[in-house]
Amino acid sequence: MIFLTNEPRKLKLPSKSMEGNVAWKSPSNIALIKYWGKFGEQLPMNPSLSFTLKKSYTKTSIEYAYSTKKSKSLKLYLGRKRITNFEEKLMGVINKRLLQYLPWLDYTQLKIHTENTFPHSAGIASSASAMSAFALCLLSIEEELFHSKFQKNEFYRNASFIARLCSGSACRSIYGGYNLWGSLKEIVDSSDAYAVPVNNLIDPFYNSIHDAILIVSAREKDVSSSQGHSLMKNHPFAAGRHLQVNDNLQMMLKDMQNKDTPDFFRIIENEALSLHGLMMSSNPGYLLIKPGSLDIIEKIYNFREKENIALGFTMDAGPNIHLLYFDKDKKEVRNFIRNELLQFCENGQWIDDKLGPGAQKVKINE
Ligand code: PMV
Repeated sequence: MIFLTNEPRKLKLPSKSMEGNVAWKSPSNIALIKYWGKFGEQLPMNPSLSFTLKKSYTKTSIEYAYSTKKSKSLKLYLGRKRITNFEEKLMGVINKRLLQYLPWLDYTQLKIHTENTFPHSAGIASSASAMSAFALCLLSIEEELFHSKFQKNEFYRNASFIARLCSGSACRSIYGGYNLWGSLKEIVDSSDAYAVPVNNLIDPFYNSIHDAILIVSAREKDVSSSQGHSLMKNHPFAAGRHLQVNDNLQMMLKDMQNKDTPDFFRIIENEALSLHGLMMSSNPGYLLIKPGSLDIIEKIYNFREKENIALGFTMDAGPNIHLLYFDKDKKEVRNFIRNELLQFCENGQWIDDKLGPGAQKVKINE
C-alpha cells in the first residue's frame, strides 16, 4: 500500500506486545535545483533535483517496544549523549504529522541511537540524512509489527513520504544517484509527496560527480531553513522564482541526457546564487554567505577560466561551498582544493564526498 497525502490509514493494530530493533544508514543529499518555500503539509512550492552523497550519512538504530495500551515515548541519543531538545521536536513531528499514517506509534516506545559520519560541528545540515534514516527505521518496524512486507518500491516510496513529513529535503535521501521531488507533468510518477529516482533519464557520465564540501563556517546558522521557507510565502520575487526554477529544471534534465554539457554548471550556480538572493531579498532579509564563501567562489571562477576544467559550485542554506566536479578531473581539482581553497575553510576542514548508492539496511551493531 502506498501512502497518500491527506488520507489517514486505517490499520488493525497487532493484538500482542512486541519488542525488537532495526537499523539503517542513510546519506545526505545536495540539491542542484533548489527547493525553497513550502505549503500545506510539507509540500514544496517548486520541484527540486538532487544527488545522494556517499560518505556523509547518518546511521540510526531504534529499539522499539510495542504494547497494546497507549504508551508512546521517545529517547534520542546522538553518540552517547541524550538530546532532549531534539526529542521534543521529533515528538512534535510524530504527533502533528506521522500518527495519521503510522497509528501504531501511539502504542510504541522508541529508543533511538543516531550517529553521523560527518563531524557534528561541520555546519552540514544533518536533517536530510537523519530524518531519512528515521523514516526507513519506522517502516522496518511496521513490517516487523505486522509480520508483512511492503513491496520494495512501496517501501522506499513510503519511506520518502514519511521522511518528507519530518524534513522536506530528506525525502530525496532514500534512493541512490539523482532524485526528483515535486510533481512535473513530463515525468510519470513524480509527486510533491515523495521523491523519485531519475537515473534512467540521465547519462551515466553524471554518476562520476564529486562533491568537495568546503567548510567555511561550522557555526550553527542564525536563520533556520524553516524560517527561510516561510519567508517565501509573501516574497515579492516568488512568482519569478517559480518560473526560473521550472525553466532551470527542464533545461537541466534535458542537458543531462548527454554527457559533459556546457550549461550544467551554469544552471547549478544560477540556482545557488538565486537561493541566496531570495534570502537577501526576503522581509526581513538575511545573509548566510560569509567572506570566505565569496573568496572560494572567486577562486573557482578564476581556476575554471584558466584551466578550462568543467567544475562549479552550489550552496545549501549556509555559508559552506559544495565544489562539484567529475572523476576525470580529480587530480587537478584536488590539487586546486589543497593549494588554493583550504585556506578559506575553518580549521582547513572539508569533506571529500561523491555520488552514492543510497540508503542501506544494516545490522544494529554493524
Ligand atoms: O529540507 P529543508 O527544510 O532543510 O530545506 C532545505 C532547502 C535547501 O537545502 C536550501 C535546498 C534543497 O533543495 O535542499
